[in-house]
Amino acid sequence: MTDLEVDEYLEQAAAVYRNPRPTGGADLRFGVDLGTATVVLTAVGADRRPVYYDQIPAEVVRDGVVVDFAAAVAVVRDLSARAEAALCSPINEAATAYPPGVGEAESRACRFVLEQAGIECRKIIDEVGAAQELLQVRDGAIADVGGGSSGVGVYRDGKLVSLADRPGGGHHLNLILAGALSVDVAEAEVLKRTAAGDHLSILTPGIERVADNIRRLMEPLPGGPVHLIGGALMYPGAGRIVSRYVGHPVAEHPHALLVTPFGIALS
Ligand SMILES: Nc1ncnc2c1ncn2[C@@H]1O[C@H](COP(=O)(O)OP(=O)(O)OP(=O)(O)O)[C@@H](O)[C@H]1O
Ligand SMILES: [Mg+2]
Repeated sequence: MTDLEVDEYLEQAAAVYRNPRPTGGADLRFGVDLGTATVVLTAVGADRRPVYYDQIPAEVVRDGVVVDFAAAVAVVRDLSARAEAALCSPINEAATAYPPGVGEAESRACRFVLEQAGIECRKIIDEVGAAQELLQVRDGAIADVGGGSSGVGVYRDGKLVSLADRPGGGHHLNLILAGALSVDVAEAEVLKRTAAGDHLSILTPGIERVADNIRRLMEPLPGGPVHLIGGALMYPGAGRIVSRYVGHPVAEHPHALLVTPFGIALS
């Protein structure tokens, strides 16, 4: 897809938040993103376009590792029940994803969460691979900067040539802001979302830290831009800071935190 088509897709995705696009319920495909900051359930239609999504903030998974199994199951059950009511359609199966750096054993826990919530796991894919389902990068990179970690995949001629992740994401930015302003982490999260522009001088070293991780993970350097996705750098100015630090063009997208969740449903 061109960047314009990706951005249109994401605008359509944002519009179906708890508000399904009518499809008659046929041939829906579901995805569940067990993130560090939020758990997201997505649905796409037979035409691969967004149909529905919903999310619940939850601290049940840390960097792909399920740290509170029972709570994770409860969150997925809630999301599933709300989706079934909204879509008038059962959710029998869904795909899910794990961060690239997580081992096979931990990623299996994600499958068990779905199964305990009454959903068969039809596929488990790494998060960057899921994002690629939507972005379809030919020459370039994908950097998924979430709550806890940054995963980077480099593509050449549409083929993956490297994939890895490093710790560091939105939660670390919250810690920096909380420390600098002497507020608690929850308050820092609110300030970051509502007034990041006022605190860019505090946040910049943290963003550069993330950029440093992205640069180290972009080996070899891609021919095209690095697509910045995930929620952690979703404020004005962040892409410019990353681009300057990495010395490489950056492509930003609206609603960047929806790329991986919808990619999971598409996979
Ligand atoms: N509008 C916003 N402005 C700034 N930051 C935001 C915004 N929305 C979300 N975030 C930040 O994005 C982060 C969550 O991003 P995302 O949903 O991609 O993470 P996740 O998938 O839960 O985590 P991970 O992929 O690391 O497991 C949080 O740190 C949150 O503070
Ligand atoms: Mg994520």
